[in-house]
Amino acid sequence: MVFPVGGQQLFVGEGDFSLTRSLFEHHSLPKDAIISCFSEDLTEEAAENAEYLSSAGISVITGVDATCLEKHPDISRHTFDYIIFNFPHTGHKMKIQLCRTLLRNFLCSASSLLTAQGQVWVTLCAGQGGTAGEVAPRAWSDSWQLTAQAAAAGLLLRRLEPFRPELYPGYRPTGNRGRQSRTFHTGRGVIHVLVRGAPLPLDRLADRLDAGGRALLLDGAPLPLAQYWLRRLPPADDSLAALIVSRLTSAAAAVRRRLLVRHEGRLFRAEDAVFESAGDDSVYHPPAYQLDMSFWLDGGAAADESFSWARLRRALRAVLGEVLVSLSRLDEYTQPDSGRRACTVRLQYQDLSSPLSYEAARRLHVQVLPDILSHALGVQPR
Ligand SMILES: C[S@@+](CC[C@H](N)C(=O)[O-])C[C@H]1O[C@@H](n2cnc3c(N)ncnc32)[C@H](O)[C@@H]1O
Repeated sequence: MVFPVGGQQLFVGEGDFSLTRSLFEHHSLPKDAIISCFSEDLTEEAAENAEYLSSAGISVITGVDATCLEKHPDISRHTFDYIIFNFPHTGHKMKIQLCRTLLRNFLCSASSLLTAQGQVWVTLCAGQGGTAGEVAPRAWSDSWQLTAQAAAAGLLLRRLEPFRPELYPGYRPTGNRGRQSRTFHTGRGVIHVLVRGAPLPLDRLADRLDAGGRALLLDGAPLPLAQYWLRRLPPADDSLAALIVSRLTSAAAAVRRRLLVRHEGRLFRAEDAVFESAGDDSVYHPPAYQLDMSFWLDGGAAADESFSWARLRRALRAVLGEVLVSLSRLDEYTQPDSGRRACTVRLQYQDLSSPLSYEAARRLHVQVLPDILSHALGVQPR
């Protein structure tokens, strides 16, 4: 796999420009591509390659911070079909958190300049991405957690490709500022291709409900979550049709959208062919988050015989749908003085069709889950 052909392209974080020079000489780097590097201070090789590209009519810009592209006076005037960062790194050794932050901030910035169908390409060294698609996957906790950083930027991983340096004659991997002469190991590197996704609309949901929840038009809500909120609209809104457009991922991974209408207290559902999408919309290695919750076992349904783990599971599934991947019982606890019993459960959240960031999963956990527990089961969170 070589880099994309055509479209408006932006390269960030270039080292000595040997990759883009190779793409120009041996592949088909478009003449209107913009090539940039972080440093203002170029080595001899970098200056020579930059000069070569500029004289071929390609725009080369130095001193570009990939984490705030939208603030750059020249770059921010464009939108891009491809934004490409080859082997990002802050240059700090053993500071994985700094690299995660660089990745997250770059992806957030890049997504703001992406066309609707645009893609971000990030090449990482072997194991750094943390997906199971690697030749030798690294523990998630020891990785840059690429899909979680992408989700925070509203992006989904669509494809993984091996980085094959032999396709780019003349490319010389170049280390960070101050260590320009140092190279690094690109073997088993992985290109991650990311696209936009519609995030869970938790904020908009909450805002709309606070404002009276008259009409909702939501893009990207999992259907069960949408149904849940729709049922909670005040009865006064029955005379108005409330619409929720919910995106569903079918087994064939083709995205279908459904129109859900509440009218006079009843839910109606209709396939909306207008939104039918035939493309390959599969999402690779979506991030998953484990969060724990404790609740008292002596209130509501938990106090009578009808309470069961199956019932709890059903209530959670009805609202969270496929976003809830697993539910397991961790611990039971009896308060010594009162004899009250409590229980701790572990939930795993994952969304196969929208970018689910850690923050969104946490909001689901602390805002929506307690509501489900008390409304559906009368159980009080601890
Ligand atoms: C490991 S080097 C890779 C260089 C080059 N892309 C290559 O493939 O040889 C990491 C690069 O990330 C760049 N970088 C680090 N922080 C950056 C930032 N905030 N914005 C743009 N580039 C950054 C460094 O300047 C350095 O060139």
